[in-house]
Amino acid sequence: MIKPDGVERGLVGEIISRFEDKGMNLEKIRKLTIDEKLARRHYAEHVDRPFFSELLEFIISGPVIAMEWSGESAISICRNLMGATDPKEAAPGTIRGDYGIVVTNNLVHGSDGPESAARELEIFFG
Ligand code: RTP
Ligand code: MG
Repeated sequence: MIKPDGVERGLVGEIISRFEDKGMNLEKIRKLTIDEKLARRHYAEHVDRPFFSELLEFIISGPVIAMEWSGESAISICRNLMGATDPKEAAPGTIRGDYGIVVTNNLVHGSDGPESAARELEIFFG
């Protein structure tokens, strides 16, 4: 998913290109504004974390681009292209390393395993 900061800053094409250039296949794409109910469902695993309210407020702050990408080792490859969660620690050459500074506004979300991928695809694409 391209988070609201990535959409607002006009980085949609750039971010999609990085996954395409690597050889991933774009299967589905949808622009939507997440409401609080959907945000709570998507980020249910983080409900007890101290940053949860900040994360929720940010993810509903503007439109996002939800995407399904397929390919060999798609989850680990996509997460490598995204870079470390905190853009301050993300390596140059990664999306977060090249475009981000603040951990909340870290441009992209990626499923962290096959179960979360299935759960999140159901949330956004049915
Ligand atoms: P994501 O779920 O967005 O792909 O990111 P991730 O796996 O790399 O990081 P995760 O631990 O799942 O955290 C989800 C999102 O919460 C925000 N966060 N803020 N203030 C903080 O210390 C903090 N830690 C995490 C980030 O936006 C992160 O992407
Ligand atoms: Mg995560």
